Amino acid sequence: MAQEIVLNYKTSDGTVHAVDARVGDSIMDTAIKNDIDEVVAECGGSLICATCHVYLDPETAALFDEPEDFELEMLEGVAAERRENSRLSCQLRVKPELAGHTIETPDRQ
Ligand code: FES
Repeated sequence: MAQEIVLNYKTSDGTVHAVDARVGDSIMDTAIKNDIDEVVAECGGSLICATCHVYLDPETAALFDEPEDFELEMLEGVAAERRENSRLSCQLRVKPELAGHTIETPDRQ
């Protein structure tokens, strides 16, 4: 059985949702599976919609590789404010080190 961790999603109203996240799944898929409706993911993870935008805090961002050029290009088109640690959650995989971290979701996609 795949390893699971607890991951938090903080929605734009300030509510924190703690969910079980399977290591290896994307942060986008985990949000969809757990009804975090501020992650829309129209393209299903193909990196062509930018509706899976999330914000990471600096400690969480440091757990991931830098975004690829194409992700950076897609981030130029996000609907909500783009921040320094904006990422597209379909490009981020759940890993054990993420246990207890919080992913923030924007008020629109
Ligand atoms: Fe479409 Fe991430 S789900 S870009």
